[in-house]
Amino acid sequence: MRPERYYGEMMPSLKVKLGELELQNPVMPAAGTFGYGEEYSSLIELNRLGAIVTKGVSLAPQEGNPPPRIWETWGGMLNSIGLHNVGLEIFAKEKLPFLRRSKTPIIVNFFGHTIDEYAESARRLSDLEGVAALEANLSCPNIKEGGIHFGGKPQTVAKTTKMIRRSTKLPIIIKLSSNVSDIKEVAIAAEGEGADAISLINSIPAMAIDLETRKPVLGGITGGLSGPAIKPIALKAVWEVASKAKVPLIGVGGIMDYRDALEFLIVGATAVQVGTANFINPKALLEIIEGIEAFLKRKGIEDITEMIGSLEL
Ligand SMILES: Cc1cc2nc3c(=O)[nH]c(=O)nc-3n(C[C@H](O)[C@H](O)[C@H](O)COP(=O)(O)O)c2cc1C
Repeated sequence: MRPERYYGEMMPSLKVKLGELELQNPVMPAAGTFGYGEEYSSLIELNRLGAIVTKGVSLAPQEGNPPPRIWETWGGMLNSIGLHNVGLEIFAKEKLPFLRRSKTPIIVNFFGHTIDEYAESARRLSDLEGVAALEANLSCPNIKEGGIHFGGKPQTVAKTTKMIRRSTKLPIIIKLSSNVSDIKEVAIAAEGEGADAISLINSIPAMAIDLETRKPVLGGITGGLSGPAIKPIALKAVWEVASKAKVPLIGVGGIMDYRDALEFLIVGATAVQVGTANFINPKALLEIIEGIEAFLKRKGIEDITEMIGSLEL
């Protein structure tokens, strides 16, 4: 891609492609940490983002777990939201129209409790105007397999991806958990059944205890750890998957600033998602985009794609 020049100053290209989906830059919010976009719209210009990723939606509304649902830990936070959401119908009627006003591509994160529910959600979401891509959260418990998450076994990932693929023409992003014995196998299973991109990682199963009461801190007993504490785990997961997968990867986990974001590109991610940082600094996404641009200018790098997979070993 040709860099634009303005009064002699080099303007690096930040454009990246996730399959057929073209993004003006590689930075987007991580699902569940940016609401349905509207919640952040007075704090941040949505048109500046690479994409908007919604909170996870399911066919039916879901209440979620009892409080407390959030707990701060060293280097991160625990959440046990329990995938609380308004359900697909209300999402379509009340949340999507606002998002459509922005020119930024909308990626809808979704989940199900059975493979059929994933397929049905994918089918119904594809009928909605303005949805650019779907991101399937495979960390949800599979009720037919005793609660093991859908992303736990390569065979289940393959089956779920295949059914989603049959249900939609939109680009599909399969979101993986690092809570597996070999994340490469799981990623290859998703790629083999038609995933257009893979995002990794989801929060990591964890818990916290109140010493005085000897009770779990979270209402849901266990939760997911996110934030800077998980960045090294996420980086390794992206690096490992990048060595095998051909589809573009989206790196997620503990990205707090532009340096973190670029490290994910170096190990092979094409784009990044920023989650926990939004709770600390609602302008984090914009600062990361600006930081990346300034870094590229400083280094004389004309195109961000030069950074992808540029790890020196
Ligand atoms: C409060 C909260 C809610 C989340 N909800 C979802 C969700 O609905 N779907 C999903 O795929 N991931 C969800 N996640 C996981 C994030 O998208 C992300 O994968 C994880 O937090 C790691 O990134 P981070 O360290 O930048 O936060 C949630 C995370 C948090 C903290």
